[in-house]
Amino acid sequence: MANPLQLRAEVLANHVEGEYRRLVLRAPGVPERVRPGHFATLAVGGPNSALLLRRPFAIHRADPRAGTVELVVAVRGAGSAELADSRPGELLDLIAPLGTPFPLPEGPATALLVAGGYGAVPLLALGEAVLRRGGQVGVILGAARADRLYGVEQARALTRDVLVVTEDGSLGMTGRVTDPLAQAIRAIDATVVYGCGPMPMLRELSRIALDAGVRCQVAVEEAMACGTGICMTCVLPVVGEDGVSRFVRSCTEGPVFDGGRVRWDDRGRVPDDLEGAAAMGGAGR
Ligand SMILES: Cc1cc2nc3c(=O)[nH]c(=O)nc-3n(C[C@H](O)[C@H](O)[C@H](O)COP(=O)(O)OP(=O)(O)OC[C@H]3O[C@@H](n4cnc5c(N)ncnc54)[C@H](O)[C@@H]3O)c2cc1C
Ligand code: FES
Repeated sequence: MANPLQLRAEVLANHVEGEYRRLVLRAPGVPERVRPGHFATLAVGGPNSALLLRRPFAIHRADPRAGTVELVVAVRGAGSAELADSRPGELLDLIAPLGTPFPLPEGPATALLVAGGYGAVPLLALGEAVLRRGGQVGVILGAARADRLYGVEQARALTRDVLVVTEDGSLGMTGRVTDPLAQAIRAIDATVVYGCGPMPMLRELSRIALDAGVRCQVAVEEAMACGTGICMTCVLPVVGEDGVSRFVRSCTEGPVFDGGRVRWDDRGRVPDDLEGAAAMGGAGR
C-alpha cells in the first residue's frame, strides 16, 4: 500500500461532466504520493450518519504544485449523491493514496487503454505517463450511452488513436467496448493493455488480450468496506507467480491486477484448489 494521509480536504470546485461530477480537492501532501491506479476513500453522512463505510474513488488527477487531487463521481446511492452535491468550501474527510498503482512499462511501450464508463478516470494520467517514457498510446472508451462516457476530449488530446463505442449507438461505434479490442491490439501493435471498468468487461478484456498474446493490467472495482486491508471484504481469487491460487485483497494488493492471473469465473466462491480452501469448509459454495 502507498503511504496514505488522512485529512480534511477542501472542495475547490465541482464540475458537471456528462453524468459525472469532477471534484477538485485541496489535499496538501497527497498529490506527490499519487501514481495512476491509486484510489481515495471519502467519509460520507457526517459523524452521526448510518452510512458507516467510507466510499472508494479512483484518483483522476494529482497536481503536486497546486496541492490538489481530482475525483470523478457517478451518483449510485446515498453516499455518492451526497458527494456529487458537495459545494466549494466544504471539507471532505479523505484518505489517499490507497492501493497499488498500475505498473509502468520499463521503457517505450505501445499501450492500449480500455475504459468502460468512468473506468477512464485512472487511465488518462497513466497514458500520459506512458507517453513521457517515450511510448505510444491508443484508447478505447465505451459506455451504455454517450453521456456515460468519460474523458473523450482528454483522450483525443493524448492520441489520435481513439475509438468511442456506445451500446445504444449514441456516439461512435455501436456495441461493447471489448468488440473492437482484438483488432485495435493488432492495429497499433500494442505490447500492453490497461483496463478499468465493470468486472464482466475486465474478464472479457483479459481473455481477448491473453488470446492475442499481450499482457494486461486491470483496475478492478470490487466492493470495499475498509479500503485499508483489514476486513477482507474485497478479496479475489488470484493465481500467484508460484502457480498457487489465493484470496488477495483488492484494496491493498490491488486494485490493479494482472488480468491473466485473476480467476474471474470463481469470484464470489471458494475454489477447491485455493490455498486454505479446505480450512474454510468450502464457504460460498
Ligand atoms: C477502487 C474503486 C474505485 C472506484 N472509482 C470510482 C470512480 O472513479 N467514480 C465512481 O463514481 N465510482 C467509483 N467507484 C464506485 C464507488 O465506490 C461506488 O459507486 C460508491 O461507493 C457507492 O456508494 P453509495 O453510497 O452511493 O451507494 P450504495 O450502493 O448505497 O453503497 C452502499 C455500500 O456499497 C459499497 N458499494 C456500492 N457500490 C459499489 C461499487 N461499485 N464498488 C465498490 N463498492 C461499492 C459502498 O462503498 C457502500 O459501502 C469505485 C469503487 C472502487 C472499489
Ligand atoms: S476493503 Fe477491507 S480488506 Fe479490502
